[in-house]
Amino acid sequence: MTSSVLQLSESPPHQTLTLTMPPGGVALTGRIQVPGDKSISHRALMLGAIAQGETRIKGLLLGEDPRSTAACFQAMGVQISNLEEEWITVQGVGLGKLQEPVDVLNAGNSGTTLRLMLGLLASHPDRFFVVTGDDSLRSRPMGRVIQPLSQMGAQIWGRQGNGLAPLAVQGQPLKPMHYYSPIASAQVKSCILLAGLNTEGSTSVTEPTRSRDHSERMLQAFGAPLTVNPDTCTATVHGPATLTGQTVIVPGDISSAAFWLVAAAITPGSDLVIENVGINPTRTGILDALHCMEADITLENEREVTGEPVADLHVRYRRLQAATFDGDIIPRMIDEIPILAVAALFAEGTTIIRDAAELRVKESDRITVMATQLGRMGAHIIELPDGMEVRGGALLRGAAVDSHTDHRVGMSLAIAALRAVGSTQLARAEAAAVSYPSFVSTLRSLCAPAS
Ligand code: S3P
Repeated sequence: MTSSVLQLSESPPHQTLTLTMPPGGVALTGRIQVPGDKSISHRALMLGAIAQGETRIKGLLLGEDPRSTAACFQAMGVQISNLEEEWITVQGVGLGKLQEPVDVLNAGNSGTTLRLMLGLLASHPDRFFVVTGDDSLRSRPMGRVIQPLSQMGAQIWGRQGNGLAPLAVQGQPLKPMHYYSPIASAQVKSCILLAGLNTEGSTSVTEPTRSRDHSERMLQAFGAPLTVNPDTCTATVHGPATLTGQTVIVPGDISSAAFWLVAAAITPGSDLVIENVGINPTRTGILDALHCMEADITLENEREVTGEPVADLHVRYRRLQAATFDGDIIPRMIDEIPILAVAALFAEGTTIIRDAAELRVKESDRITVMATQLGRMGAHIIELPDGMEVRGGALLRGAAVDSHTDHRVGMSLAIAALRAVGSTQLARAEAAAVSYPSFVSTLRSLCAPAS
């Protein structure tokens, strides 16, 4: 196979990725690694920034999102070493000691940066902050964190009735609270817990079902007095807390591994190992979903690395079966639903995904965008208010598609193109750099083995 399968053309600031596949696609074989987990990378930088002493981080995701987090905290006086080094050091300033930035903090495309940071800023007495983001982030709902923070006494102003960024924050001493979150959102939960760190008393969050628990694990590792009741989906922090700098080794991101899991699962002849992937049970919904669809995936070399479970994922092609997904599994795979929709196109039968209305307020409306873009390739997907119905047995044909600047949409469409007849042009392919800057080079190496 020659590398002409893949071509990248630049028209700054945009890139178009053209994929031209031979009939039947290219079997994916060998061993690969994926970049560091995005959620853990954000948290390592943030907790490192507010801890006492030095935090050392290895495997940090060098995507645009964690770079936004690093830049925001540097603007508040935190010293962070060169991000390109193998080990990164963060010199913690201590809780409540972030400096008032002299300019607007820009979270770029990153909801995690903005929402988690808001909890820290709101609880910083005597400091004033203005925070914003890119076009996508400025249209995403911030009321879900502003409203509970306001109940704690926070002063935050924003567009459209304090619902949208840019936001202005006047830091205050806050009151502790017990918050019953209407949505299972790790960003909401983490924001409140971070606000609770610098607040006298017990601050807790109860969720309808458990969202990812990286904040809880890492806060405990940094020495915060934090308890978790898994039966009631409640996490409680006892403030004011003192955090101590730690060593964090970031595992590979299962959300990035998911693209290759699905690519290999739907391409005959594939036999691929993805090494060193985080398998935190609050994140492994995609593995459970693919198993449910009868995918051939095994976990090898299971181990624990700085408080997070890790394994190598071995995937081989096998014909998939349709399934229905709803309820508690959805928050455990919320970011993987675009690529799950691609898997469902190649399954036998119709796959139904429900209880996933959150997809409509991600980096794009992932229900409409995936249904529309895959539809251009000949897929039959019916949009539901809270999910989609995906008809299996698809015969996709190459088409002009668009990431809509959403990294996970762009990469999912590129994987769909691997099984399409003819040529696909993916516009705004550069979006992948938000969470997976080396996506195209890994794709290229998998499409042209041993050449
Ligand atoms: C994230 C939580 C999830 C997820 C996002 C990362 C995090 O968002 O979709 O990509 O790191 O806490 P919600 O908390 O809004 O569900």
